[in-house]
Amino acid sequence: MPALLVRNVRAFDPQHLLDAVVDVFVEGDTITRIGPNAGVDLLASDRVRVIDGTNLWLLPGFVDLHAHVREPGQEYKEDVKSSLRAAAAGGFVDICAMPNTKPVNDTRAITEMLVYKARALGGTRLHPIGAITMGLGGKELTEMADQRDAGCVGVSDDGRCVVNSGVMRRAFEYASTFDLPVIQHAEDHDLTDGAQMHEGAVATKLGLRGWPRVAEDIIVARDLMLAEYTGGRYHLAHASTKGSVALIRAAKERGIKVSAEVTPHHLLLTHEALLGYDTACKVNPPLREESDVQALREGLADGTIDCVATDHAPHSHLEKDLPFAEASPGMVGLELCFPVLLELVRQGSFSLTRLVDAMTRSPARIVALPPPTLREGARANFVLVDPEATWTLDPARFESKSRNTPFAGRQVQGRILATYVDGVAAFELSPEKGLR
Ligand code: DOR
Repeated sequence: MPALLVRNVRAFDPQHLLDAVVDVFVEGDTITRIGPNAGVDLLASDRVRVIDGTNLWLLPGFVDLHAHVREPGQEYKEDVKSSLRAAAAGGFVDICAMPNTKPVNDTRAITEMLVYKARALGGTRLHPIGAITMGLGGKELTEMADQRDAGCVGVSDDGRCVVNSGVMRRAFEYASTFDLPVIQHAEDHDLTDGAQMHEGAVATKLGLRGWPRVAEDIIVARDLMLAEYTGGRYHLAHASTKGSVALIRAAKERGIKVSAEVTPHHLLLTHEALLGYDTACKVNPPLREESDVQALREGLADGTIDCVATDHAPHSHLEKDLPFAEASPGMVGLELCFPVLLELVRQGSFSLTRLVDAMTRSPARIVALPPPTLREGARANFVLVDPEATWTLDPARFESKSRNTPFAGRQVQGRILATYVDGVAAFELSPEKGLR
């Protein structure tokens, strides 16, 4: 493998307050030098590939706690290979795969298959999340010990909520013996039966049944009590309400072991986006109101919400080009997450430091993965960004097999040029599009 020198790049890593124009030299899978002009003596070497990083950023590689890879069972929407390519194109070096596949990942064999396939492909790493209950049925716990041994980094019934308090208590008790996070999709299904979107004025206007905030808040409040009671570790998936933010904030103040994630779409869009019945905007939990969006942004800014997660949920036109009530909820997110969120950094909603932390160290910590970092001696897991590049999000060019996003056609500023995993290029935009 030729050595790689990224020359004159703005290296930015909030983990150790690095923000400097440096050279970064990679030999094999390791960063061996990092510092101003640290690679000048290598410029003439024909065994070193030199990338001119002038005016570019180098960030630690991103980590996504929440992706739906659709394998096994729905490979026409996505599979391990396409999701890992999409992840690399979005700057991710590690992604976690939710278990709501067909069949559900509730057994060791499926975790082993996913781990084996992803390893054979190389590039972005895949970390399965096992189901909490068999078949996501909400009743019988899975063998978490087996799942953990096979490679699961957390447990979740995502797509469904563990509504039964007794089952949730046992889930906390079982998972905490391995310090696995219990990742909850918080939705009291009795309050959301037949719901199509957020319960509010827009739902009334459109004549669609509503999903009230309280259906999320009730579960979060109960789960936090159970987490405190059992000592278990709780992670709230795709927080969508201002109530959730307040509950998580108060729980952290009490010292409960809790973390939370927010998606790009819940940070950027409101229920008004559904006014044209666009099924690309149908997602679960639903897009909410301005006051929720503000609370989520503030929660991310002050660390109440630990991290950003994509909830990358690919669907084909078979599930989306349908009357609104029949369409499946979900949006793709891996390839647009960072560029769309840079908009919020520019608007001052939160700092670049906070965004990078929320996409690197913070999610890695929640699932106990080594956090990507830019230091001498660290594994070369990083992403090269052109912060000035203005471009249009075009789903037809996605690496993902699916195109379902309400951000199609959006002008964004900031582009992922390349992603390196353990020193190897998992993605490089072609030179004519910017990689110099
Ligand atoms: O919108 C969603 N889509 N929310 C979920 O929780 C599941 C996901 C999916 O699997 O499509």
